[in-house]
Amino acid sequence: MVEAPDRQLRKEIIPLRAEIENLADFHSVQATDQGTQVNVEVPDGIEVIAERTLFQRVISNLLSNAIRHSGGGKVFVRAKREKDNVTIEVQDTGVGIAPEDLPHVFDRFYRADVSRHAGSHQGFGLGLTIVRTIVQLHRGEVSIQSARGQGTSVTVSLPA
Ligand SMILES: Nc1ncnc2c1ncn2[C@@H]1O[C@H](COP(=O)(O)OP(=O)(O)OP(=O)(O)O)[C@@H](O)[C@H]1O
Ligand SMILES: [Mg+2]
Repeated sequence: MVEAPDRQLRKEIIPLRAEIENLADFHSVQATDQGTQVNVEVPDGIEVIAERTLFQRVISNLLSNAIRHSGGGKVFVRAKREKDNVTIEVQDTGVGIAPEDLPHVFDRFYRADVSRHAGSHQGFGLGLTIVRTIVQLHRGEVSIQSARGQGTSVTVSLPA
């Protein structure tokens, strides 16, 4: 999909809470490994309009990052319906991202923690690039906030 961004999206109406709960379940083994609990705080009745497999990849990439960097802290997924859009936030209370790395984390192949995590996770640094590509394909936006030692929060906003 990154190669053919103009193709027609196969959008469907996705009940958010059930979808997020399924994805959190899918990551429960990883979460247990990291000593982290994923808390889903998504109200009933919120829907997003998206291509399901792509949307799943967005949330999955964010959950996997949050869990991996949670440092035994907590992970929260929250959502709210606003006037023109739905926002979904994946937050962790983990190690955070250094201010000098933060502007680059959406760049292709960028990995902020190569030295800290040497020998453990060998990601490609593509997860957030894919997240942003998919979100933009759906005419949404993604933003990230982080503080070293306090955690990270990524917010995806999709047109309602
Ligand atoms: N929740 C987070 N907490 C701390 N650092 C993060 C978090 N999410 C992303 N990062 C940092 O941003 C970098 C880029 O993330 P991205 O998901 O694009 O790549 P990756 O996780 O390293 O590899 P991939 O997702 O391709 O397996 C990561 O290497 C990591 O340093
Ligand atoms: Mg990743």
